[in-house]
Amino acid sequence: MGENLLQMTGISIEFPGVKALDQVDFSTEAGRVQALIGANGAGKSTLMKVLSGAYSHYTGEIKIDGKQVVIRSPKDAKDVGIQIVYQEVDTALIPSLSVGENILMNDTIHSNDSNLFINWKKLHQKASSLINSMNLKIPSKKLVSELTLAEKQMVLIARAISTDCKFLILDEPTAPLSHSETKELFRIVSELKDKGVGIIFISHRLPEIFQICDDITVMRNGQHVSRCKVTETSQHKVVEQMLGKSLEDQFPSYEIQVGETLFLVENLSDYEKVKDIDLEIKSGEIVGVAGLVGAGKTELCNALFGHSKISTGKITLKGKQLRLSNPYAAVQAGIALVPEERRKQGIFVNEDVTTNLSVSNLSAFTKLFSFIDRKKESNASLQMIRNLGVKTPSEHTLVQHLSGGNQQKIAIGKWLVADADVYIFDEPTKGVDVGAKKDIFNLMVNLAERGKAIIYATSELSEIMGITSRMYVMYDGKIVKELKTNNTTEEEILYYSAGGK
Ligand SMILES: Nc1ncnc2c1ncn2[C@@H]1O[C@H](COP(=O)(O)OP(=O)(O)OP(=O)(O)O)[C@@H](O)[C@H]1O
Ligand SMILES: [Mg+2]
Repeated sequence: MGENLLQMTGISIEFPGVKALDQVDFSTEAGRVQALIGANGAGKSTLMKVLSGAYSHYTGEIKIDGKQVVIRSPKDAKDVGIQIVYQEVDTALIPSLSVGENILMNDTIHSNDSNLFINWKKLHQKASSLINSMNLKIPSKKLVSELTLAEKQMVLIARAISTDCKFLILDEPTAPLSHSETKELFRIVSELKDKGVGIIFISHRLPEIFQICDDITVMRNGQHVSRCKVTETSQHKVVEQMLGKSLEDQFPSYEIQVGETLFLVENLSDYEKVKDIDLEIKSGEIVGVAGLVGAGKTELCNALFGHSKISTGKITLKGKQLRLSNPYAAVQAGIALVPEERRKQGIFVNEDVTTNLSVSNLSAFTKLFSFIDRKKESNASLQMIRNLGVKTPSEHTLVQHLSGGNQQKIAIGKWLVADADVYIFDEPTKGVDVGAKKDIFNLMVNLAERGKAIIYATSELSEIMGITSRMYVMYDGKIVKELKTNNTTEEEILYYSAGGK
């Protein structure tokens, strides 16, 4: 038995209508990086929430070094050295406070003579030395609201290890990060590992799991499937264990007769990032917008959807010039956007699945006199649940009770129910499992076959290579290159994405 062995045995938990965990065993050791993988809704986050004290109503046992520990609250978990960094970093930080204050939030650094006053100097000193020990360059006095997402995540990690942290859980930390930010995170992970911290790492990106993890635990449908060393398995094998079947081709092959120009963008700029954009997309085309995180892809998508004000330029759909003063006008004109920040813009977490799937298209379900046709609404939503493989107890479940990846699918489905001419997808595969990715690609092809124009914005090069026929590469708010997918390589896309000429 290794030192600082953490064992969860026979963990079960239920929510109304779902058995989220069913007798799950999980174990990991200090000084190792343990991957936890599984399809959307498999129970990864729930298992880690149990371990970090978010729930008290589970059954099963947790032991550290053979000794039983009681974890029924976040404080219990912290007391035995377990810390978690959730994916929604924003909700865990106070933006109006400094980095130092956020890191040492749970600490009380009082000056010697009085307990009532915070010793600011000491606080920033302690925070700075922690930041320095992680080889980061974030000023302790900087406001959290001024940080990038990656920096915020680092602040959360710093906060976690500011206490006596033996086990650190990272739930999909890399989903929103750029390649260089991911590299930085991995450096910190491996330093923590060398210091003897046990890291539990959840991700849907298999290549990075095989890069930084020592062991892999696979879950499926709320159950434990396997645990082994990374060196003893393969990506193909773990996908099969995750899905319960093998996944041959990730990308559908398709041959679509492209039609007339459907969507034309000329000389488009917004008041901030987007400059002089020209796009031409024909009916039946799936066209990529490639570029690194921060290149302006999301800003472009937003401008095309009436989210941001346009300073110059012309947008034409089916030969008709559009005035997109707001997203409503865009929807009316026949444009749909699956936004990147789905939890903020894409879905209503307090509403149920069916309501979410029909809001963008209420008019289609509304009979004369504005009565909503509940039956039709429900049928459409059931069909979308099937098409996207949404894991939900029913179509009436509140979206906040779905797993992260399944919320994502709802955000996508919502726009697919709407009947638009142009579909803009902004990083649609973030946080969704490999099986669901394939479903999303199939849906794109389906739309294209129906003569729609598809814009696919992503920083995932393999996906842009796999699904598009043509792409525009963005750098610093501009389109710097147009490439035919068949005649290019990931290296070439990366070259132009990085500002190469
Ligand atoms: N608070 C809750 N109420 C009801 N159901 C829940 C709750 N939390 C989780 N579930 C259900 O438990 C199952 C497991 O969800 P969980 O979030 O653990 O999945 P996951 O493996 O983390 O998936 P993802 O990769 O999509 O993040 C899902 O079916 C989810 O709908
Ligand atoms: Mg999750």
